[in-house]
Amino acid sequence: MDICYIDGKFLSDEDALISVKDLIVLRGFGVFDALITYNKTPFHLEDHVRRLEKSAEYIGLQLHHKNSEICEIVRETVTRNPHHHESAIRIVYTGGISSDGLTPEGRGILMVMVTELMGLPARVYTEGAKVITVDAARFLPAAKSTCYLSAVFAKREAKKQEAIEALYVDRDTRILEGATTNFFCFQGERLITPPTGEILSGVTRSVVIELAKSVYEVEERDLLLSETGAMQEAFITASSKEVMPVVRIDDRQIGDGRVGERVRKVMQLFRDYTNSYATGKSRLRLP
Ligand SMILES: Cc1ncc(COP(=O)(O)O)c(C=O)c1O
Repeated sequence: MDICYIDGKFLSDEDALISVKDLIVLRGFGVFDALITYNKTPFHLEDHVRRLEKSAEYIGLQLHHKNSEICEIVRETVTRNPHHHESAIRIVYTGGISSDGLTPEGRGILMVMVTELMGLPARVYTEGAKVITVDAARFLPAAKSTCYLSAVFAKREAKKQEAIEALYVDRDTRILEGATTNFFCFQGERLITPPTGEILSGVTRSVVIELAKSVYEVEERDLLLSETGAMQEAFITASSKEVMPVVRIDDRQIGDGRVGERVRKVMQLFRDYTNSYATGKSRLRLP
């Protein structure tokens, strides 16, 4: 049984209930963030909570907790689940109950859910993953709101085509981001990723950019789907997927179809960093 935090109490997940009248239930109005632990230490927790605060600001949701308070509650929730080897953490702030069922009245509640971290098959990292593209984009993409309809649709399509992820491609044929990941590719020694603004600024994305800067030239610019042929290597990033190599986009093979040297280098940089993160000795300050 997992213990979660809900509105001031630590309860078993079976007893953690919210009102059916909450705007998060009625209208999908709420924000969330997700992260994992390394050596039982939540990875870049303050940055994830900072993004939760920004997401709330973008959608006009009032939070009643300071960053430090949320961080403390998250750490306490992890501590109350000692049976987890490592944890996947979900922080949710609901829109709250509203008199007319539509207008936010600042009555949202905070929830923190912690579950055992489920790893992905090692094969995906050694052989590389297939991703597909979908003609879609998110509403208010800089916000991690609980309105994830496009992701549910995109992931369903990816599953149908035996792919691990779906990349959103907009009307101008720009590759934006994955349903729950950010996208990167190599053209020569240049590491390219779409700029923030029309994507979610992933915490893993920011960490990877900072780490990769010491080895490669990093370019944040629009990437067109037509550039797929010029991509020698590619990968996606997310808290739960870390750095995941991509060897196929739709029916196009990336490079020679195998996990390349440069992506392996980025994976290693990320692994070294996460291994030492819990010690607190080397922690990046993210922009
Ligand atoms: C749309 C989207 N982009 C990117 C990411 C990756 O973000 P992070 O690296 O902070 O987990 C996520 C995470 O769920 C996401 O939902």
